[in-house]
Amino acid sequence: MVKHIGIYPGTFDPITLGHMDIIKKALKIVDELIIAVASHPGKGPIFSVDERVEMIKEDIKNLKGKIKVIGFEGLLVECARENNAYIIIRGLRAVSDFEYEFQMSGMNTRMNPELQTIFLPASESTHFVASRFVKEIARLGGDVTEFVSKNVAKKLKKYFG
Ligand code: COA
Repeated sequence: MVKHIGIYPGTFDPITLGHMDIIKKALKIVDELIIAVASHPGKGPIFSVDERVEMIKEDIKNLKGKIKVIGFEGLLVECARENNAYIIIRGLRAVSDFEYEFQMSGMNTRMNPELQTIFLPASESTHFVASRFVKEIARLGGDVTEFVSKNVAKKLKKYFG
């Protein structure tokens, strides 16, 4: 039987409840999920790849299913190939996400035609969440526990002092 291995890439700086929603949905579709944390230096992440990987591992520890969390640099198509994944999972929050996501999936499939992207709709409760806003709220001393886990909220508090 073919094993369906999916890869869910992102910057995850930090992981939010929105990402968790997509992870839970993806686990219902694939046999194994690889959460791939892009180093993405151009985006100026506040947490290192290792810290982002650790936060994800902590948040997913009670989820059922086969999940691997890895960091990666370079092309997503290469990371997918190395991990035998041929399904890319991406969450869609709003119509505005679609154009960028559609382009990215086209480029990735052009680079590796074996690779297909599955878009999963964000749940109503998380469709407005974005890491950038969570960081801004935390930086300004606001409460982020509606948007991230307790562990991530603690890490943000520590970072912003
Ligand atoms: N719920 C809540 N928030 C979500 C979400 C969801 N379901 N889905 C995405 N987001 C948010 C993220 O928090 C992030 O917010 P931010 O921009 O405020 O930080 C934003 O939406 C998009 O981030 P993310 O999903 O992490 O994607 P990205 O655009 O940062 O990263 C990569 C995209 C990493 C997948 C892409 O750049 C990549 O593949 N890089 C590797 C290099 C490569 O192969 N490039 C060629 C691509 S064609």
